[in-house]
Amino acid sequence: MATFKPIVIFVLGGPGAGKGTQCANIVKEFGYVHLSAGDLLREARASGSPDGQLIESYIKEGKIVPVEITIALLRKAMENSGKDKFLIDGFPRNKDNLEGWEREMGDKSIVKFVLFFDCPEETCMERALKRGASSGRTDDNIESFRKRYQTYLTNTVGIIDYYKAKGLVRTISSIPGPEQVFNEVKKLFNDS
Ligand code: C5P
Ligand code: MG
Repeated sequence: MATFKPIVIFVLGGPGAGKGTQCANIVKEFGYVHLSAGDLLREARASGSPDGQLIESYIKEGKIVPVEITIALLRKAMENSGKDKFLIDGFPRNKDNLEGWEREMGDKSIVKFVLFFDCPEETCMERALKRGASSGRTDDNIESFRKRYQTYLTNTVGIIDYYKAKGLVRTISSIPGPEQVFNEVKKLFNDS
């Protein structure tokens, strides 16, 4: 018997590359459910989860939280949504994330492609610091940004390369403003 599998698009890019902004646009126009791993971790921290302190220390240091925590949050959010098309933003960010996903969800979902927002460090930094003025995030400051960007280079770029080798990466430059970037995103979603 064929079992039903939800469709997943992973959304990756450096901190401040515009992942969240574009995901919000995609949700409005293409009806996906947006699940941001970072948002789910911040919510878990705020809800007084026993992992709260650990999550906060990882976020502040720009490190990647152990996958057991993140994947449990993602799975719960996927199940609770009752939907079957997901944009998973900011995941998988390192080898631990990727292995956890493949172990737990590899045969229970279909990864349609990886949407990669390509953005140089200076642009990412400007955006993250600008967001920091109003986001209330403990990691939108210059010290945390530098650590997050380093984590991106050391850990996430290799994951993007892994999916590139599988022919699954769709790259969009996110140097232009959000409207122009969304025009490119629309072309991609209309064609797929
Ligand atoms: O994607 P976002 O910038 O919201 O992520 C914020 C922080 O959340 C990351 O720097 C990291 O500490 C944590 N995170 C994580 N694992 C993920 C996604 C985010 O540990 N897969
Ligand atoms: Mg985000």
